Amino acid sequence: MCGIVGYIGHREAYPIVIKGLQRLEYRGYDSAGIALYDGTDIKLSKTKGKVSDLKERLENEISTHGTLGIGHTRWATHGVPNDVNSHPHYSNSGDLVIIHNGIIENYDALKKELIKRGYTFKSDTDTEVLVNLIEDVKKNENIKLGKAVQIALNQVIGAYAIAVFDKNKPNEIVVAKLGSPLAIGIGEDEFFIASDASPFIEFTKNAVYLEDEQMAIIRRGKDIKVRKIKGDSLVDPYVQELQLNLEQIEKGGYDHFMLKEIYEQPEAILDTFRGRLLSNEAVIKLAGVEDNMKKFLAAERIIVVACGTSWHAGLVSEYIFEDLARIPVEVEYASEFRYRNPVITEKDIVIAISQSGETADTLAAIKLAKSKGAFVFGVCNVVGSSIARETDAGAYTHAGPEIGVASTKAFTTQITVLTLIALRLARAKGAISSSEFRHHLIELETIPSKVKEALESDGYVQTIADIYKDAKNFLYLGRGYNFPVALEGALKLKEISYIHAEGYPAAEMKHGPIALIDEHMPVVVIATKKGHYEKVVSNIQEIKSRKGKIIGIVTKGDKSVKELADHVIEVPETIESLTPLLTTIPLQLLSYHIAVMLDKNVDQPRNLAKSVTVE
Ligand code: F6R
Repeated sequence: MCGIVGYIGHREAYPIVIKGLQRLEYRGYDSAGIALYDGTDIKLSKTKGKVSDLKERLENEISTHGTLGIGHTRWATHGVPNDVNSHPHYSNSGDLVIIHNGIIENYDALKKELIKRGYTFKSDTDTEVLVNLIEDVKKNENIKLGKAVQIALNQVIGAYAIAVFDKNKPNEIVVAKLGSPLAIGIGEDEFFIASDASPFIEFTKNAVYLEDEQMAIIRRGKDIKVRKIKGDSLVDPYVQELQLNLEQIEKGGYDHFMLKEIYEQPEAILDTFRGRLLSNEAVIKLAGVEDNMKKFLAAERIIVVACGTSWHAGLVSEYIFEDLARIPVEVEYASEFRYRNPVITEKDIVIAISQSGETADTLAAIKLAKSKGAFVFGVCNVVGSSIARETDAGAYTHAGPEIGVASTKAFTTQITVLTLIALRLARAKGAISSSEFRHHLIELETIPSKVKEALESDGYVQTIADIYKDAKNFLYLGRGYNFPVALEGALKLKEISYIHAEGYPAAEMKHGPIALIDEHMPVVVIATKKGHYEKVVSNIQEIKSRKGKIIGIVTKGDKSVKELADHVIEVPETIESLTPLLTTIPLQLLSYHIAVMLDKNVDQPRNLAKSVTVE
């Protein structure tokens, strides 16, 4: 993971780099550092802790003057989070300084070789090995920095997005990418470097996203030269116009990004089906699906690959695709799929789901599926991300930037896109009638306002959060379409409040987890009217008779669960396949409020990072 930022131009670099790091803190936040060139030398400050700790330390420690700077916010891979292991890292001579996001897998062998040649190391990081390797190549071959970076990277196995400069050549920064994202913002006589475009969005809308195995030499006031790391040929950089705006990445009056993003869901879902769902004409238009309709119709099976919350969206889609389009679906953890020699054929369609579009395991699963001849379709949120580029076709979720580490609006917009795809295929295959199809479209169009209504439970959810915030364990139960929602509810609680929680299919409870139930166990049960309602009510009775505390998520107007449960949170009625879009809302709010009450860092929970670009 980690976030990298850089600036070279005519402005003071420090304010740009520090603010950029704050925007990228979602990528990792166990340590941070900045190196600035002040006109004569490199000034470097770094520390364990957050970007705010760095700011305090740096401003007391070094001059913040200079028009060239690089910065890093870290999510540790090699070496514990401490001051020494924080980036940037100097080379032994002190001439070169580097920031790196990724992992150098063969760092140990390279390090031993460098030690034999007299190099010493202060940190335990793979990055310090890389900067010394570059220095070694540069000195031995007496070549420019760009060439040295290229030769060094050809000896490296692993993943990287790096930025490096030489204090003797302070008019250029060299960057390179393999596996980790790297965007270059192009301004007027100035350039910005970042893991995503958010650090430079207020300065320029023009950006080049480096492809894997590309590097660029960025020259102050001049140009950028992009070339391939292997083979050396020059590449014409493709300059894109960014769609992102500043308000989208700021908190807009909410206490936390997570809460803002929970509240953005009505709009995000609407944006995701806007222009794609035309209920008047009873049409769904998704270019990526239309262009490949033959492949979709010939598919014998869909394999979904994803991680975490995106995997839960994939599980919901299993119900939707099988129920509506009658296509068999398998949902796989990308991290397992990629390593277990799966049976994949040209008749399979692989759907990769990812908010960030950068998840290393999902990316590797895509590459594996493609190598076996499968057609790979991406469902991503981040435009231009690695997964969006690696897949054969795809459909974006239009959730806007998701900054809170715990995924919320990405989940509901993923389900929205997957529902659109399933409905389109269901109709194309004749698996549902035109009136059923139209009914689904009309109902889907009502979801944004129903999500808004579901959000009105916020106050009551806070009351419930206050009652149960000190519980040590939670159980989440659901059936059918709402089984994955139970898993997602438990994941949300775990990751931001650090309370242990388990999600289970409600009927499976009696095969084990029921042993956990006593008067101290809050059990969140999703019991909407559509979807095995009576059976879930029986499950609730089983919990009740063992004195478990029941928090029911029910359809508005419900009576039976109300009589049994300790609390009920109502959501509006909808058709069964769309219930996850509503039942998820109170679960997101519950985890949010518990975490706030426990004084946890909601947007940046410990040990986590927003985009997991390491396996
Ligand atoms: C949980 C969460 C993670 C991600 C997972 C996949 O709230 O955010 O579980 O869902 O790391 O990330 P993406 O969707 O970016 O591939």
